[in-house]
Amino acid sequence: MRIEKGAFASRLLGRIPAAGVRTRVLGVLRWLRPLDAAVEKVAGRKCATLDPEVRAVLRIGLFEIEVLGIPAAVAGDGAVHLIRRLGKARASGLVNAVMRRAPGLVAQLLADGGPAFRNSHPDWLWRRWVSVFGEDRARKAMEAAQQPAALWAWFRDQGELNAFRDRGVPLTPHSWMPDAWCSKGRELVQVVAEGRAYAQDPASQLVAWLAVMVAREGATMVDLCAAPGGKAARAVRDGAFVLAVVADLNLMRLRLTDRLFSNVESGVHRVVQNAAETALKPGSWDVVLLDAPCTGTGTLRRHPELRWRLRPGDISERARLQEELIEAAYALVASGGVLLYSTCSMEPEENEAHFRTLRAGFEVEDVSVLLPEGSGAVPTSQGGFRLIPQENCDGFTVHALRRR
Ligand SMILES: C[S@@+](CC[C@H](N)C(=O)[O-])C[C@H]1O[C@@H](n2cnc3c(N)ncnc32)[C@H](O)[C@@H]1O
Repeated sequence: MRIEKGAFASRLLGRIPAAGVRTRVLGVLRWLRPLDAAVEKVAGRKCATLDPEVRAVLRIGLFEIEVLGIPAAVAGDGAVHLIRRLGKARASGLVNAVMRRAPGLVAQLLADGGPAFRNSHPDWLWRRWVSVFGEDRARKAMEAAQQPAALWAWFRDQGELNAFRDRGVPLTPHSWMPDAWCSKGRELVQVVAEGRAYAQDPASQLVAWLAVMVAREGATMVDLCAAPGGKAARAVRDGAFVLAVVADLNLMRLRLTDRLFSNVESGVHRVVQNAAETALKPGSWDVVLLDAPCTGTGTLRRHPELRWRLRPGDISERARLQEELIEAAYALVASGGVLLYSTCSMEPEENEAHFRTLRAGFEVEDVSVLLPEGSGAVPTSQGGFRLIPQENCDGFTVHALRRR
């Protein structure tokens, strides 16, 4: 209910350790469209007109039956019990009816629905992605967004990785992202909570990895939109930077980097600043990373509520802000240095469209030759690449420009 009012699921769930809550909240948000269609069919009225608590209980109950495979009688009892505890006993008839008629109803609606409905996405996004990427890729991206995302992490240093291995807990390397690890069970979650490893999607890790790959030894780096700091921290861990500036407009978010940089002795400075009005010295940074604020359409698996919140107009609004940030970022790049621009958005307006014309003195750096084998990245029209959301990584788009 708080997410319906604008809260972010990942933030709320970060404070709730129960895995069952996480599964239900994210699952309901992922499958919201067919779940609501089923509720509406049985209730004979629009979901929006239902009491918010009743609506939430119905969605959870249906999700348990149709997606988790919990027997209808069990899920139905749970839902009725819950609605009574919430003091809404009057709605127990409706809850009962929906739960009784539920088995098979969602499956039937899914079978009859169009492609966006079947993967529980809004129609406008389906039409957009089909026109940009083609039907096959659009469908695969939406299918990927319907699967729970695994926890991928990198370790603070080799010692932490070795210590984890010494426990004898199986650790699986990512299929293409070097040094990204996954593990079944609670141990990795625990190590991440202790700050000894950092949870980060492999696509995000790839951006940090590229920042290291394009830099020569002894380079300087600035991350202009750094918080909560995952990319900057992984780049600092792996790169031989003499100086790294980790900046963000948002002080509270920048504070989230406290732990990440607590063991870095020198050479890393944290700055609160508006990247569009930076006071950093122009023309003196070898790597300028701009991981820009964006619509996040590559991360609908981890942030399933975004698809219901986004409006087509948000894309151009974000693109305008990005344009300003890119202008400022160009000015910082040293001769021979690289501007690395990334977003977790799939949308051309937020990515390649910014580089149809380049600032004088810059040229496209072909980073696709650096990509780890098997990433499945596809080239963009302006010499960058895009990762389409897939089973084991989010969607991301990256462009690199080198100053002559
Ligand atoms: C995509 S997130 C960055 C994620 C980060 N690079 C990481 O890997 O952890 C975008 C960030 O841009 C910041 N931001 C938004 N507008 C900004 C501005 N004008 N100047 C600096 N940072 C800004 C937000 O506070 C947010 O932390």
